[in-house]
Amino acid sequence: DWTAEHIIDELVSDVQAQVGDGRVLLAISGGVDSSTLGLLLAKAVGEKLTAVFIDHGLLRLGEREQVEAALKPLGVNLVTVDARAEFMAALDGVSDPEQKRKIIGREFIRAFEREARAYGPFDFLAQGTLYPDVIESAGGEGAANIKSHHNVGGLPDDLAFKLVEPFRTLFKDEVREIARLLGLPDHIRMRHPFPGPGLAIRCLGAISEEKLDILRRVDDIFISGLREFSLYDGCSQALAILTPIQSVGVMGDERTYSYTAALRAVTTDDFMTAEWARLPYEFLATMSNRIVNQVHEINRVVYDITGKPPATIEWE
Ligand code: XMP
Repeated sequence: DWTAEHIIDELVSDVQAQVGDGRVLLAISGGVDSSTLGLLLAKAVGEKLTAVFIDHGLLRLGEREQVEAALKPLGVNLVTVDARAEFMAALDGVSDPEQKRKIIGREFIRAFEREARAYGPFDFLAQGTLYPDVIESAGGEGAANIKSHHNVGGLPDDLAFKLVEPFRTLFKDEVREIARLLGLPDHIRMRHPFPGPGLAIRCLGAISEEKLDILRRVDDIFISGLREFSLYDGCSQALAILTPIQSVGVMGDERTYSYTAALRAVTTDDFMTAEWARLPYEFLATMSNRIVNQVHEINRVVYDITGKPPATIEWE
C-alpha cells in the first residue's frame, strides 16, 4: 500500500527531526497503539528508544511473552519490568472498583517513574495518542478520564519530558495499517481493546492470585474459542468475568460449591453504547463445556445479555 508506506516515511523523518540525538522513553501496554509506536520509533531512532513494559500481574495468559516476541525481534529496545508483587500488595483486600482503578493508576506511575530514573535520563516521552484522543481530551470528560492511566499523565516535574506523539493525526484503522507494514503480528494488530487495569476489574471484588489465575484460564478459553470459530473479528470486545458468586453444582456423585464465570461480548462503533453480541448458541455451549471441564474452580457459566446502557462493557 503506497499511502501507508508514504505515511511511515513521513512519520519517521518527522520523529527524527523532532528528537535529533535525544533519548526517548515509551510505555508499552501491549495494545496496538503503543506496540506500533514502539516499532515506528525503533525504525526512527533505534537504540535511543527505551520501551518499558510493566507487567502488573493483571495481564492475560501469555500476554507478556507475546508482546516480547512481537517487539524484540523487530529491533525494539524493550525492558520488561516484573512489578507483579508490588501491585498485588497494593491491591490486597481492596474491593471497591474505583479504588482498584486509582491504586493501579498510582502504582503504574510509581513503577514507570522508577524505571525512567533507572534507565534515564530521557529527553522525550512518546505517547500513542490518536486523533480521537486529541478530540476527547479537548472536550469530553469520560473517555479522557478513562485514558488518564494509559497515557501516563501526572509525572513529577523532574520527569517532565517533551512529548512525542506521531499518531496525533491518525485514526485507529490507519495505525493498524501502519502496524501491518511494520510487521506487527495480527494477533496484536487486530486485538480488541483491553483496559489499563486489566484483569483486576474483571475479577469482581477483592482480587487474589488464585482468582486471577482462574479468570486467566477462562478468558483464554473464550478468546481462543472466538478466534477458532472465526467470531473474534465480528465482536468489538469480548471478555470473561470471574464473579464472587458460588453456587451448588454436581460432578460425578459429588456436590460442588464453586464459582460462576460470566462471558461478555459486544458490538459497538464507539464504546459509548454497545449491544451484546448475538453469538451462536452452539458456540456458547462449546465454550461452557470447555470452561467447566478445564477449569475445575468453575461450575456455572452465564452469558451477559445486557446492552450499554444501562450496563457498562466491563463489570467494574
Ligand atoms: P465501559 O466498561 O465503561 O468501558 O463500558 C468502555 C471501554 O473502556 C474500557 N475501559 C477502560 N480502559 N482504563 C482503560 O484503559 C480503564 O479504567 C477502563 N475502564 C473501561 C473498556 O474496556 C471498554 O473498551
